[in-house]
Formats: sequence, structure tokens, C-alpha cells
Amino acid sequence: PLPRPFRVPLPIPPVARPVGTDRSGAELYRITQRRAHVEILPGTRTPVLGYDGIFPGPTIESRRGRPLVVRHRNELDVPTVVHLHGGHTPHEHDGWPLDLVLPAGDDRDWTPHHGMRGEVARGERDYRYPMEQRAATLWYHDHRMDFTGPAVYRGLAGFHLVRDEVEDELPLPREERELPLMICDRAFAEDGSFAYPAFDEAMRSLPGVREEWMEGVLGDVVLVNGAPWPVHEIDAARYRLRLLNASNARRYRLALSVPGGPDLPLTQIGSDGGLLAAPVSHDAVELAPAERFDVVVDFSVLPVGTEVTMVNGLGAGGTDRVMRFRVVRRAPDDSRVPDRLAEVERLVVPPGARRRTFRFSRGAVDDHTGWTINGRSFHPDDSHADSRLGEVEVWRLVTDVHHPVHVHLDPFQVLARDGGDPGPADAGWKDTVDIRPAEVVDIAVRFTDYTGRFVMHCHNLEHEDMAMMATVRTTH
Ligand code: C2O
Ligand code: CU
Repeated sequence: PLPRPFRVPLPIPPVARPVGTDRSGAELYRITQRRAHVEILPGTRTPVLGYDGIFPGPTIESRRGRPLVVRHRNELDVPTVVHLHGGHTPHEHDGWPLDLVLPAGDDRDWTPHHGMRGEVARGERDYRYPMEQRAATLWYHDHRMDFTGPAVYRGLAGFHLVRDEVEDELPLPREERELPLMICDRAFAEDGSFAYPAFDEAMRSLPGVREEWMEGVLGDVVLVNGAPWPVHEIDAARYRLRLLNASNARRYRLALSVPGGPDLPLTQIGSDGGLLAAPVSHDAVELAPAERFDVVVDFSVLPVGTEVTMVNGLGAGGTDRVMRFRVVRRAPDDSRVPDRLAEVERLVVPPGARRRTFRFSRGAVDDHTGWTINGRSFHPDDSHADSRLGEVEVWRLVTDVHHPVHVHLDPFQVLARDGGDPGPADAGWKDTVDIRPAEVVDIAVRFTDYTGRFVMHCHNLEHEDMAMMATVRTTH
């Protein structure tokens, strides 16, 4: 039986502590990927693949300009790959989907059925992050070739928050009034385990999901920070909500509903790539998989005792609700949202800029249907774009059905939707943009600092696993 909504308290993932520094002076973190059982539905135990055995994994907090190393140890029974989503990271540390970390003590041959190979590590791997990037809400998750969908669904995801001086100086809500909210949907089997319709339950060789889930896997329970429809007691004050859609395929239209009153406005202060130039007010925000919206909500206008429900305008049945806030006390609050937040460089498209078109559509992959980009399925050596560092390019993204498109290495800016202005939710630096059915979106892309191979792909994780991914090569 599914739990009654708004009973379970909202968990806040623990913040990871560094265990020391490595030879270069970078802070060193250790995370062990292991299986564990966690109580998600009250009274049942759900097996998870967890960073440190928890779901979500521990939150990493870093500072701009201070490099860090995360030593990931794989104590699972399947290979893993760690990607810092939104990280400005050199190729070797970006979680190239074929750079597997094999399970500790496992000597099996893990070459995928298609024979593609990468740099394989045994048991553990150090991921080094320069952190030369703006304060932003990032997240880390599994990115193994063919199996990202089931790995993330079973728990391999966590927050990584980058902070910097620009943000420190703003009078935004902080500490217990700054809440990272990882939103995802899951389906559960009778025994409490996650029900993922994989062809190959063991995640060994055969990728993909059963035909009826081609569009992406959806669940009927909404989790926030791993708890079903949780409730959080709050002060009548401003809160900063770092919203992340960590679902495999579900999209949300989030609003804050107040009984007998208008919805509370969501004041957006940041997007995937950190602070906006100026706040933008929304009645609701739409999040496709992997998108982040950083919003401030003023609960001080409400009387103590008010229950505010975060609703999902795109859901039905249980998925039309996400969580609840209960205003329990009045409290002082000196936070505010200034009119100017941060400098946001505007990417300028020079005349003669390189233009490329990427078509995201269903198509043939090997001998079955899958998802393709420009009619091709992912192959590491098949570069779709050789881009020069520092040059602004215009990429036209064209779709058949909904595809949230994500580009690694550097954030981008949305120039136009269907030839018109970008939408109100497209402001600032983005690393994932939702392309609606039959839509054409133009983005300005500029890669910097690191040469090598990176990927861009659909962040509907079933589409990604069914080959909707492309190699991008950056050069001097
Ligand atoms: Cu969030 Cu390439 O991934
Ligand atoms: Cu897609």
C-alpha cells in the first residue's frame, strides 16, 4: 500500500566531509558505492544502489577555485561511471560513459555487447574537479554506457553545491532556510523494491527497457530527497529551494498551492548554471529531467498553521502532488532578494559563427528501434561536432517528441524557441534545455579550457540508454 502523503518528514541529505588533502593540496572526499536497504515506504525495505549506501547520496559542497578530488570506490556488483552534472571538468574526470569503474575484486570481462571500450579502473577511481566555475546547484549521478537509467533509478544520484563569494554577499535565505530538493518518481514492486522494467535486471549486458517504456520510465510515487510526498515544518519566512528534477523521464510543472488563496509566487534566482542577472517571478516552473531551478519563496505572508502544497500541474493521481510545507512559527527574517543578483556574461554570436543542427528522433539502432541524434546512434569515435575552444557556435535542436537535451563541459544560453524569443524559464546559463514536441530551439554554445571527447545527449535516461547520445570533440 502506498503511504498517505505529507506524513514522512523531509530528509536532508548529509553533507560529505573531506577526509584530508591529496598530494596537490586538493580536498579529498571518499564515497563508497554500495548496496543497502533503506526505508522509503514506511514499514518496507527498498534495496538501493547508494553512494555511501544512501539515497540521495551525500551532498558535496565545494567552493569556486578550490579543486577537489572524489575517490569513488565501487563495492557494487556492476560497473559504474560518475558524472558531475554541470561540472566544468576535463575529459578524464567527466565520467565518459565507457570509462568504467569495475566492482572491487571482480575479474569478469565487462566489455559491453557492442564491444566499445574505454579507460577501465578496477575497484576505485579518483575524479578530480577543478571547480573553476560559478556557484550553482550541480548533481552527480551514474553515467555508465547503456545502464544510466536503471543505475540512477536504483539510487545513484546526489547533490553537489558550488558556492562562491558573489553568492555569499547576497542576503539570500541560508542554512536551514536553504533546501536542496531532489524530486523524482519511482514505482515500487510488492516487496518494496524499485520496479524498473529493464530487459536485463542484473544490468550486465542487455541495455534498454521493455517496448511499452520506450518513451521513458515513469513511477506513481513522487519522492523528494528519497521520501514519498514528504512534509517539512517551516518558519513564516523566506526560503531558498534548490529544485532538481532527478527523474528518469517525468516532467513537472511545480506550483505552491495555498488553501483558499492564490498560489505563492516562485522568485527564480538561479538556473542550471547558477545565479541569474536579476530575479524572475513565476506562478509555476516547469522542470524536465536534470533541470534545476533555484527559487526563493516568501512564506512570511501566511498565517502560522498554513499548509502549502507543492503541486505538479503535469501529474495525475498521486503524481499531481510533490510535498507539503507546514508553517509552524513566526520568526525573524532579514533575508531578501536583491534586484541585481550577479554578472551574467551574454554570449555574443559573431557573424559567420559555426551553425550545427541536431535532430532528436526515434530511429533504428542496430537491429531494433531506439533513439537517435541526426539518425545516428552513439559511437565514441563518431564525433557530431568538432568545436574549437573559445568559439561561440549556434546549435539548432530539433525534436519529434519531448527531449531534454544536455551538453557536457560548459553551460549554454538559449537564443530562441521556434524562431521567437526564449521562454521566461530559459534565462541564464543552462546545461539542459527542454525541447517540446516538434519544437526548434537555438542555443549559443561555447566550450572552454579542456580539449577531448565529451558527450551531449537526451537526459530522458531511457532515451540516453537507447543510444540518444553524441560525441562532441573540443580542440584548440
Ligand atoms: Cu546528468 Cu550526461 O548527464
Ligand atoms: Cu529524449
